[in-house]
Amino acid sequence: MAGISGRIYSVSGAASGIGRATVIRLASLGAGGLAISDVNEAGLNETIKLCERYQSKITTTVLDVRKPEDVDQWIEETVSQFGKLDGAANVAGLAGGDGSNVASLNHSDWDRMIGVNLTGVMNCMHAQLKSMTRPGGAIVNVASTSGLRGFPNNSAYSSSKFGVIGLTLSAAGEYGTEGIRINAILPGPIDTPIIRDGEKKGLFDAASIYNSTLMKRLGDVDEVAKVLCFMLSDDASYVTGAQWTVDGGYSAC
Ligand SMILES: NC(=O)c1ccc[n+]([C@@H]2O[C@H](COP(=O)([O-])OP(=O)(O)OC[C@H]3O[C@@H](n4cnc5c(N)ncnc54)[C@H](O)[C@@H]3O)[C@@H](O)[C@H]2O)c1
Repeated sequence: MAGISGRIYSVSGAASGIGRATVIRLASLGAGGLAISDVNEAGLNETIKLCERYQSKITTTVLDVRKPEDVDQWIEETVSQFGKLDGAANVAGLAGGDGSNVASLNHSDWDRMIGVNLTGVMNCMHAQLKSMTRPGGAIVNVASTSGLRGFPNNSAYSSSKFGVIGLTLSAAGEYGTEGIRINAILPGPIDTPIIRDGEKKGLFDAASIYNSTLMKRLGDVDEVAKVLCFMLSDDASYVTGAQWTVDGGYSAC
């Protein structure tokens, strides 16, 4: 894959699932430096262990993407340590909710979901776009197929992901002429703790979701990470403002 080798990337939500798979994939493609963050320190350390066989230099930062000062500091330190920032995968996110309808939705649950999933992505881009390599930089924000259609009893999640798509497309319009590509990836049902936890809480039934895909199965985190890394790479040099589904056809029919 062209243009990953030797480059410097930040990845949020890197302690688990799609974020961790993205870090491993970038390391396997020869990324020069990876600045990874999450609220979960133990998970970050496990991600580092899984990358031991690769040469990439990896730094970890424990932070909450809802806190703009912490995100700013993370990105400033990344640039001062590695000398530049070539790309970013903004992956940190929450899923589900407690199954409430809109009238019974708890305001603090709404604020938390929008804070992490939408404002968190904004905080990351706000910091990253100040110093990202131009031309040639690339950002991929993780939205969801729930940003394309409603998700009853999960309205905060769905709203946050519609927001990520709007934010991504707007930013793509602002930075296209500067040579920074900004895209959204929209996973469908992927086998990660988010899906398993939602199932345990009785929010949804994984089998009924994956039976709604055209491929009748959950996706694997590596299947998302491969597309995400392609979108970060120079092989996607004319791709910006895209909403790329990786959903086994879930949103198609
Ligand atoms: N798994 C799916 O089916 C699916 C589908 C569509 C979209 N997504 C999206 O993919 C992204 C990754 O989710 P995943 O499935 O890998 O789940 P995951 O739970 O394995 O990973 C999410 C990571 O985000 C971190 N995180 C949560 N809140 C944070 C905060 N405030 N600050 C920093 N980090 C925080 C978690 O600690 C975790 O490591 C999320 O944005 C999610 O909404 C997942």
